[in-house]
Amino acid sequence: MSRIEDLITTDVDRAVETIRSGGLVAVPTETVYGLAADATDVEAVTRIFEIKGRPADHPLIVHVARPEDLDRWSDNPGDDARTLAATSWPGPLTIIVPRARELPDMVAGGRDTVGLRMPAHPTAIDLLARTGLPLAAPSANRFGGVSPTTAQHVVDDLGMLLEPGRDLILDGGPCRIGIESTIVDCTTSPPQVLRAGAVSADEVMTLLGTDVAAASGPARASGMLPSHYAPRCQIRLTDSGDDASALRAGTPHSEILDLTDDLATYARELYASLRDADARGVGTVIAVLPSANGLGHAIRDRLTKAAAPRPE
Ligand code: TXA
Ligand code: MG
Repeated sequence: MSRIEDLITTDVDRAVETIRSGGLVAVPTETVYGLAADATDVEAVTRIFEIKGRPADHPLIVHVARPEDLDRWSDNPGDDARTLAATSWPGPLTIIVPRARELPDMVAGGRDTVGLRMPAHPTAIDLLARTGLPLAAPSANRFGGVSPTTAQHVVDDLGMLLEPGRDLILDGGPCRIGIESTIVDCTTSPPQVLRAGAVSADEVMTLLGTDVAAASGPARASGMLPSHYAPRCQIRLTDSGDDASALRAGTPHSEILDLTDDLATYARELYASLRDADARGVGTVIAVLPSANGLGHAIRDRLTKAAAPRPE
């Protein structure tokens, strides 16, 4: 078998074994693929940071099998967090709560809080339930790049960094939502949305019956850095298809990305479209921004970060 055939599988039994032996498993979720390890295994978690090239102070999300696990892995999560877990899990919502002491410092980038999420993908839930372990999993891409929404994307980004026989890529098909989970910090009053996602701030407000603050302050989530989710091609943003066409006329090697007619499709195909543009050597993607409603917020956020000036 080639090294890639050795890495990719649909066999959850092998993935359970891999996690239990301290290996890493790229796992499908409804949002994006994550690079998972036993969150209580410091050595395995260290390898996640190394393989992603992620700075040690950027905390990982810990994935759990059941809404009740909120209380297991946090210390006094509070009513807002309990309400969100009970109403939105499994689903694309990460809840920041005070960290339980059993979770190592390094999972949380040294913070005394932790982000917990129960994903809504049958393969991920199966793996979580059968290992019986909390799984630390950031998106399965190199730090600062575009998140993977298929197993092939993970191969493209990390295939040469994972070790056949030690690690695995679990293929669960393309991700249904396509952009990362909404992050709500429930350690502040009112709770704060740190990253927009498929669960909108309005929905969070309705669920909690309280105001919710928009993200503010220093970059507490890496998704809050000005430049993130960046492909190799340049990204230019426009507000309409007409503006995009005009801009395209004056921009060599450019093409237009406009799925504003259907925001669910826009979110689901956004990262694959940017990866595909890179693969074809497109110089500039001219992306049409959706209006800022519901999922439109999250798509605008990712496009804006992909278009931001990048560090050298
Ligand atoms: O949809 C998702 O959330 C995917 C799938 C795999 O679950 N995961 C994901 O992980 O996007 P990652 O590591 O790429 O992004 C997690 C974000 C980072 O921006 C991190 O800074 C933030 O969550 N985060 C995690 N724990 C945090 C904490 N305790 N306080 C503040 N931000 C936190
Ligand atoms: Mg990420």
